[in-house]
Amino acid sequence: MLDLEFVRGQFPAFAEPSLEGWAFFENAGGSYTCQPVIDRLTRFYHQRKVQPYAPFPASEAAGAEMDEARMRLAALLGVETEELSFGPSTTQNTYVLAQAFRKFMQPGEAIVVTNQDHEANSGPWRRLAEEGIEIREWKVDPETGHLDPAALEKLLDEKVRLVCFPHCSNVVGEINPVAEITALAHAAGAFACVDGVSFAPHGFPDVGELGCDIYLFSAYKTFGPHQGIMVMRRALAEALPNQAHFFNGDTLYKKFTPAGPDHAQVAACAGMVDYVEALAAHQGVAPGAVAGLMHAHEVQLMQPLLDFLGSRNSVRLLGPKSAENRAPTVAVALQGPAEPVARRLANHKVMAGGSNFYAVRPLQAMGIDPDDGVLRLSFTHYTSPEEVDQLIAALDREL
Ligand SMILES: Cc1ncc(COP(=O)(O)O)c(C=O)c1O
Repeated sequence: MLDLEFVRGQFPAFAEPSLEGWAFFENAGGSYTCQPVIDRLTRFYHQRKVQPYAPFPASEAAGAEMDEARMRLAALLGVETEELSFGPSTTQNTYVLAQAFRKFMQPGEAIVVTNQDHEANSGPWRRLAEEGIEIREWKVDPETGHLDPAALEKLLDEKVRLVCFPHCSNVVGEINPVAEITALAHAAGAFACVDGVSFAPHGFPDVGELGCDIYLFSAYKTFGPHQGIMVMRRALAEALPNQAHFFNGDTLYKKFTPAGPDHAQVAACAGMVDYVEALAAHQGVAPGAVAGLMHAHEVQLMQPLLDFLGSRNSVRLLGPKSAENRAPTVAVALQGPAEPVARRLANHKVMAGGSNFYAVRPLQAMGIDPDDGVLRLSFTHYTSPEEVDQLIAALDREL
């Protein structure tokens, strides 16, 4: 069982006087930052804030810490160090990737996209239609938001080079079977690109085991600094054209990140691994087993919330009603705009969001006006049962 007191002790936000009493339910927007990340950022700005990789001690320490972050994160994710790179955000990373595929693909070839994705893993790919690339849409069930792998099979043939889909949608919350979907894509001769932004905060996955060719997520939602993290497996990375300076094309971790990296934030990403390893050591498990502990805690807290929302006639719960195959990203459509309700929840010291959260296509597919948006209640493993009680009591008053 997860030691919640230990977990919360790693997040200064829980000891911050200005946040006292506030229950945080907008984690899918961005999580609290863990102490090791803050410590590393502070140390970098105090001691190492110089151009890295130059031959003097402060610079060597800066470069070494950036390398450490890449190496330890890659190990945690089950991939090679060279296969992991940092970019300013996942939106930026997918944009660059799409430029690489723009040159890699031929007119008449096809890409599968979904209407369950956040726009970041959708729009950049759809724009390749301008080059004569066929875009095929794998559609959600309009009632539940579910993506059925059987429907994907019907879209696959020898023309498809790439299948883009989310590990978990930021409004539906259902966890998609990445390994199964990837296997379908590979069997058809296509690569698989997975948006893991909404999943990764609920347990860093073993990307090597999932088998996908690209896996993207955002460190500011996984208890770290504001960075996009991208895994691209070697075979694809070598095949795609260089998007960086011409002389950086042979270095896989530089090839798809044309922007100069934020050195301090890259280095501080090692703090996310410090946190996972400290939690694993405290719980007496391997770092890879931390994800299971987080999930079990989240499922336990999520089911009462799902039951409460499912029992209210005035709201429409998106995604599964059972917590087991879900991330705790729980969105409900209301009869009207969601933002004012989120605003009223703040009167109860509950932080939540009301928006379309850039999931315009998924909401439209489910018949929800993106201008009304949805009320999203999202938490992580550091959330307490008392905070969920506070949320449900506030919802009981305001829905
Ligand atoms: C599922 C999902 N994908 C992609 C993104 C975009 O990530 P970033 O803000 O790093 O560009 C978000 C951001 O909220 C998201 O929720």
